[in-house]
Amino acid sequence: MPEDVYQPMTPAEVRILRDQLDAKGKKLVFTNGCFDLLHAGHVRYLNQARALGDAMVVALNSDASVRELKGPSRPVNRERDRAEVMAALRAVDAVVIFGDMRATALIEAIRPHIYAKGGDYTVDSLNADELAALKAARSQISILPLVTGRSTTKTIERMTKPADGVGPLRLGVLGSGVGSNLKAILKAIDEHELDAEVVVAISDEKDSTFLKTAKSANVPALFVDGGHNPRRFYESAHKEIVEHLQRAHVEVVVLAGFMRILKEPMLTTFAERIVNVHPSLLPKFKGARAVQDAIDEGELETGCTVHLVTAEIDNGRILAQAKVPILVGDSAEELHQRIKVEEHKLLPKVLAQWPRKG
Ligand code: GRF
Repeated sequence: MPEDVYQPMTPAEVRILRDQLDAKGKKLVFTNGCFDLLHAGHVRYLNQARALGDAMVVALNSDASVRELKGPSRPVNRERDRAEVMAALRAVDAVVIFGDMRATALIEAIRPHIYAKGGDYTVDSLNADELAALKAARSQISILPLVTGRSTTKTIERMTKPADGVGPLRLGVLGSGVGSNLKAILKAIDEHELDAEVVVAISDEKDSTFLKTAKSANVPALFVDGGHNPRRFYESAHKEIVEHLQRAHVEVVVLAGFMRILKEPMLTTFAERIVNVHPSLLPKFKGARAVQDAIDEGELETGCTVHLVTAEIDNGRILAQAKVPILVGDSAEELHQRIKVEEHKLLPKVLAQWPRKG
């Protein structure tokens, strides 16, 4: 074995480290897990755990115990390799490998100042023996929030699912305003809930938050001058948008708060491939005042609709809807915010299920 390969520590060595820290009034953090296919969720969790104290030891489940915990196809990487990779992380000061299903004996041997666990646990769901050992060692227990959208199981799924040969869905997003739906799409992509890429973002508002959001996510962000009428668009602007979308090989166009009415050649070029999100339960309350109109009509509930875009405003085939109750005394703004919460879930979900030709 090459000399620079990391040698895991023994529990006794970690105890020495703990006592040295203790003498200086410093704290050792302890956490444990399989970590057999390291991903960003692990790194973020480990950084948070390390920030609780002054040094951190990670107890890695041995290969045999990972197999017992996760099934015969795991671990993906062997314990020596896992220890080497783990020890190379900035957050990690020491690594031990343990073969038991539980960390009880290690806790007793090391007596860590802080015991950190990922957020799928609660103090109550910790094993009784481990809990007793932690109490005896007077370890502080810290449950850290779960990092969403990153998991070993999901990573393995993505690696093993048969290649469809089409790659991420190429989205062109058009918006005029705040861009919270664009943000929601980018978040869903980042969290691997939506296999897509926003290849271009286009706005008719030069200084919109929409464009700023796109730029800060490194999405090519373009302004197209639509003219003075806030709803209608110069004919040349329609052509310009089509050119931008085609140049970026966009498969689906998403209208995320785009306030101009789309015309030809957009509609034909992207027929059945333009979706809009609208803040009402269509066919009720079409148009730009949909939220206020639902309140004025004395409705008890409204919601949002994701639909295909055709020449008739807010009239294309409905793809999905979500309901939102209207509360007594709701202002249009308050209600719109609650509708947007649903839009942010619904729109990425529809895009994630977009049928591909393969
Ligand atoms: C959304 O409520 C959408 O339904 C409507 O315009 C709003 C855009 O919001 N078409 P944002 O710019 O995505 O925050």
